[in-house]
Amino acid sequence: MSETLKITDLHVAVEGKPILRGVNLTIQRGETHALMGPNGSGKSTLGNAIMGHPSYEVTGGSIEIDGADLLEMDASERARAGVFMAFQRPMSIPGVKMADFLRHAATNVRNPNRKEGEDLIPMREFRRELKDKMSQLRMDEEFARRYVNDGFSGGEMKRAEILQLAMLRPKFAILDETDSGLDVDAVKLASQSIAEIGGAEMGILIITHHDKLLENNTPNFTHVMMGGRIVETGGVELARELYTEGYDRIRAAYPEAAALDAELSEEQATA
Ligand SMILES: Nc1ncnc2c1ncn2[C@@H]1O[C@H](COP(=O)(O)OP(=O)(O)OP(=O)(O)O)[C@@H](O)[C@H]1O
Ligand SMILES: [Mg+2]
Repeated sequence: MSETLKITDLHVAVEGKPILRGVNLTIQRGETHALMGPNGSGKSTLGNAIMGHPSYEVTGGSIEIDGADLLEMDASERARAGVFMAFQRPMSIPGVKMADFLRHAATNVRNPNRKEGEDLIPMREFRRELKDKMSQLRMDEEFARRYVNDGFSGGEMKRAEILQLAMLRPKFAILDETDSGLDVDAVKLASQSIAEIGGAEMGILIITHHDKLLENNTPNFTHVMMGGRIVETGGVELARELYTEGYDRIRAAYPEAAALDAELSEEQATA
């Protein structure tokens, strides 16, 4: 069965202000999509809306996973349905250790019908898997004993997100600037790890301003967001054009979207 994440004419508002204005995007499992666009154009908003973040109000359109209505599901049901997002700014959870968090999350995602309080993945099995994944990602084991993202450096947070991805193995993954703040070696490792984890099995949406993550994860499609809409879709060559040349050509080609984009960033600047 083909497995699909399908976004149709999605409109999203934050605090009553429209941000997304009709996004259409379909991702099949096994495909890699790059999402690019200027700062403030709505990329993270799209990810947050897919994940069901309460501040992002869907005012129109639909999101379906394998034909089921994602918008009817709460955030944990979305995770169980197989959608995952590595956040641009991950939250910290003081008091909850990485290992415990991952064991709960992995159990829930792998057994979508599990009831609260039923058995978790057996400790021994989980430990072994976690240890393997951490060594693959060249992470210190000590990391798993720390509280989730509490006092993590920027780079450590991003690597923790990749560890989550590796442990949860979702059907669809949104990686929101997982390369930002990583040093040169770490970004290379992240890029390779995503390719290994994702392989042909996941549908991946990579939000990025750079080329490194895309080096090992060649996008089948590149989308450009501007003014809350995807204005253009192409192949890997479009990604190359954007991270070398910027958005001047896109702004000139889509003046209406460019005007909306300018409006948004002006508001951002004066806010
Ligand atoms: N929680 C929020 N509260 C207020 N405004 C928000 C919120 N989330 C998004 N916005 C606004 O929505 C617009 C789009 O933001 P978004 O984070 O989606 O941009 P982006 O494309 O991810 O940008 P970047 O490349 O800088 O990460 C911006 O004007 C932003 O200020
Ligand atoms: Mg963003």
